[in-house]
Amino acid sequence: MSFFLIKTVLGWLLLLMGLTAAASMLTVMGKQDKKIPGPTLRKIHKSAGRVFFLLMLINAVMGFRFWAISGDTLSLRAVLHAVLALGLVIILFLKVAIIRAYKNLLRYAPTMGMLVFSLGFVVFLISGGYFTARSLAGEPAAVEPAPVPALGDAPNGSALFAAKCSACHFADQEDAKFGPGLASLLKKQTLPASGRPATLENVKSQILKPYQSMPAFTDFSEEEMADLLAYLKTL
Ligand code: HEC
Repeated sequence: MSFFLIKTVLGWLLLLMGLTAAASMLTVMGKQDKKIPGPTLRKIHKSAGRVFFLLMLINAVMGFRFWAISGDTLSLRAVLHAVLALGLVIILFLKVAIIRAYKNLLRYAPTMGMLVFSLGFVVFLISGGYFTARSLAGEPAAVEPAPVPALGDAPNGSALFAAKCSACHFADQEDAKFGPGLASLLKKQTLPASGRPATLENVKSQILKPYQSMPAFTDFSEEEMADLLAYLKTL
């Protein structure tokens, strides 16, 4: 199962739990004649809330991992999702703290509960909802994050650089030879020719599928690529 599918299924469950928690408490507080007695509804609210909390934690860990793997190249949609989700987590924590420890503030709890539910709904729609809609429309939903390339042995990489790259690139200065100088390549924000973010992924992709006129190097083994990247990181 793909990362996004798991997260979307969790998202649907999360939404269901949020709905259950919200509906049960709204009935307790906002309705005179209830079909289900108040104490039962409160129990339902509490259980649904707990499952909501648990699912939220799993989703947050998955989200953070995704962020860590993709680096700061997240889509606007993912950023919105993350920011709103973090806001939701904080409000939920505050609400639980008020209910457990700061009972003088109890009058704020219902508003916070409604806010948690509303935020949850929005967070879900811009991610799981979007994913579901894309899948229904038969479109690919999102690109899986590429794993960060492995780093190998820098001295080996140095020898590879001397053999394959140094004809066109200086390693110790930024002046161009045939291609741009690669000094401090991965210590800068952007790559010298394309202006793409200076990440290992983008350097690896430059070597395999160059941006413009540089020849492609597709016959490095995994190990050689890791060595070369380790060396380029030291520049
Ligand atoms: C025949 C000359 C040549 C060789 C050999 C060569 N490059 Fe390049 N390289 C270039 C040129 C020209 C550019 C400018 C952009 C382009 O055309 O892709 C470049 C750009 C780059 C960039 C910057 C990419 C960007 O997005 O700005 C990196 C990093 C790079 N080369 C790494 C390497 C490495 C590592 C090797 C050895 C495996 C290598 N190059 C071998 C000519 C070369």
